[in-house]
Amino acid sequence: MTLEQEIAKRRTFGIISHPDAGKTTLTEKLLLFGGAIQKAGAVKSSKIKDHARSDWMEIEKQRGISVATSVMGFNYHDIKINLLDTPGHQDFAEDTYRTLTAVDSVIMVVDCVKGVEMQTEKLMEVCRMRNTPVLCFINKLDREGQDPFDLLDEIEAKLKIKVHPLSWPISMGKTFKGVYSLYEKSLKLFTPSKTKIEEAIEILDINSPELDQYIGESYAIKLREDVELLNGVYPELDVHDYLSGKVAPVFFGSAVNNFGVKELLDTFIRLAPPPLVRETTTREVKPDEKKFTGFIFKIHANMDPKHRNRIAFLRVCSGKFERGSNYLHVRNDKSIRFSNATAFMAQDRETVDEAWPGDIVGLFDTGNLKIGDTLTEGEKMIYTGIPSFSPEIFKEVINKDAMKTKQLEKGLLQLMEEGVAQMFTYELGKKKVVGTVGALQFEVIQFRLLNEYGATVEFAPQHIYKACWISSTDEKKLAEFIASKQRHIALDKDGKLVFMAESKAWLQMVQDNFPEIKFHFTSEFKD
Ligand code: G4P
Repeated sequence: MTLEQEIAKRRTFGIISHPDAGKTTLTEKLLLFGGAIQKAGAVKSSKIKDHARSDWMEIEKQRGISVATSVMGFNYHDIKINLLDTPGHQDFAEDTYRTLTAVDSVIMVVDCVKGVEMQTEKLMEVCRMRNTPVLCFINKLDREGQDPFDLLDEIEAKLKIKVHPLSWPISMGKTFKGVYSLYEKSLKLFTPSKTKIEEAIEILDINSPELDQYIGESYAIKLREDVELLNGVYPELDVHDYLSGKVAPVFFGSAVNNFGVKELLDTFIRLAPPPLVRETTTREVKPDEKKFTGFIFKIHANMDPKHRNRIAFLRVCSGKFERGSNYLHVRNDKSIRFSNATAFMAQDRETVDEAWPGDIVGLFDTGNLKIGDTLTEGEKMIYTGIPSFSPEIFKEVINKDAMKTKQLEKGLLQLMEEGVAQMFTYELGKKKVVGTVGALQFEVIQFRLLNEYGATVEFAPQHIYKACWISSTDEKKLAEFIASKQRHIALDKDGKLVFMAESKAWLQMVQDNFPEIKFHFTSEFKD
């Protein structure tokens, strides 16, 4: 197969949702369709449950298991699908943000009872930043949910994306009859079943009395009214609007009942984009360029201190990755050879000799790689679009064992490279402040520093609202700003300048007082 053919058959995506909306269930059904697993329940075991919140060791263990489910590759028809798992636990949201940098599209799951929830809003923001195409699956139609028109309005309002329903539910909950496909003009009747898949019934003319026979007169009347309204509001879907992230096609179904999932998957492989052109610091890279390039979006550490090796997840962006070849690690300007590379097929890991754009490869790493690193065949460029976001919780690292300072430094550096948290070093006094999205990471860091590096730390809470990366086109003004706010200036892991804002109101005031300074909430920005 040629490089172009390999690219055309690949779809790399992630599923996003608020915990409990049904992401794991949907994943499982998709894997069943792909023949990647044989029975239901196989994916569940790796799910990080919310009730485990207080027990982070359990969560870390689960994360360990979830290396296997981090990337689930499977074939469906002639398409090679790479599904990238994203942790549902909100304390690991940063992991999810980063994983989204490696996908070409996403499927968003919304619970029809709860509607759009907070975590989905945040994740959608990340998708919007990157214009990632989104397909929406409204789940749990077997429950009494919100009115479907209201749900669509809510998605548009809260997620700031236009929607375009491709299927439409006929009632919900106890009286849920099924869905009508608006583009295939066919009806699928609902029978609760975890395994059976109903055949679609073609109803080309919605006014045909056949419809009444299947769903009853009153539901048929309601469906006709709804469809008339929908046809008025939503003209034909323009695929480009989906591909540019402006419009999200919407499906309704029930993942646990395997209802509406096949339509979603069939539409997904038809509409979702193959690997796309990606930006670097110097130029755009097309996937069909002959030379291999890729970037690291995730690092998974081994929890066993005796085996300090890690797995770095590489997204192939162009050309062909070959095991055993020498590649340039651009940040260090060094050549690295990966004789040990893993592909992820469903829940198995297997050694891979070659990989194509869109594929994810697991590389064994002894501490050379960090998130955001680019590998090439020699060209000096770095993939962009893998930013850090401002953390939400900040704490100062207090070293409790001066004899282990070196170990602490090393441990902190490595944990930050893995992306466990972000560290900011103040210009004044070299105070080190760790920032995370969730409270859990502090326990993880404390435990791992002690167990893997022998360093003892405590954390002192800091009164910080946001870390803002700062820039200015006026060097003099920037220097003046830094001088006047010295106590609040720190450097991030890459040595970029950060302003540590104590409160929202104060940040606003500082922004008003220093109009020449730009404040950014992500580490990557254009001036
Ligand atoms: P998540 O990964 O997004 O957190 O959600 P997950 O798939 O684990 O689903 C959360 C709960 O919602 C599960 O129930 C799951 O069975 C249920 N669920 C998923 N899809 C549907 C659906 O279409 N209809 C209904 N009624 N429920 C659905 P649980 O009780 O938490 O777990 P379990 O005991 O069923 O495994």
